[in-house]
Amino acid sequence: MSRHVAAAVVAVSLGLGAAGCTTLDHAVAKWWWFTDMANQVSVKPFSGRALLDSAQRMPAPGSVPITGHEDSLDLTTDLAWLKNPVPPTPASLQRGQILYNTYCIVCHGPQGHSDGTVVPKFVPPPDITQPPTQQRSDGYLFAMIQEGRGIMPKYGDKIRSATDRWDVVNYVRKLQGLVK
Ligand code: HEC
Repeated sequence: MSRHVAAAVVAVSLGLGAAGCTTLDHAVAKWWWFTDMANQVSVKPFSGRALLDSAQRMPAPGSVPITGHEDSLDLTTDLAWLKNPVPPTPASLQRGQILYNTYCIVCHGPQGHSDGTVVPKFVPPPDITQPPTQQRSDGYLFAMIQEGRGIMPKYGDKIRSATDRWDVVNYVRKLQGLVK
């Protein structure tokens, strides 16, 4: 190799190097014998086709979405299938009491007899310590808090954590004398 050719090779290499890999990649990809890596049978992320491609991995069975919304619950059913996952520990009952005294006490009163301070100006709510409500499933009480019904507002958008709502259910059970 003559000294001139060697100098030219060095100059071109430095030039391509300085231009950065991306430019080099684009330049090289123009040559058909360098495109084998790009044109392979694989999912092309963000190609638009990837989402439709059967090679795209589906979420594992039982995966739970971490975005999106909670399904609404149908209060015309008994909701017995919706099991309470939160045991009525002292901590749960204490948390439930704080939330009950924040959101529910104005209507349902301190003991659940629905003699809260706004009731004289309002349609009287049912006493939630009485047998009809005692016999509701935990899931039903949970849904009542989440969805509301008629003139009882929904609290799912205020007591936003499901665990908190179960804590309130546990506390209502305590007011009913069903939990010590
Ligand atoms: C603004 C007044 C008001 C507030 C605040 C309120 N409720 Fe109610 N609640 C009602 C009314 C009115 C009803 C009857 C609704 C109906 O039957 O359509 C009711 C019904 C219920 C029932 C259903 C009783 C049954 O057997 O069907 C439960 C349980 C209940 N409320 C619990 C709660 C809890 C827990 C909170 C706090 C998170 C709360 N409520 C907050 C007014 C209120």
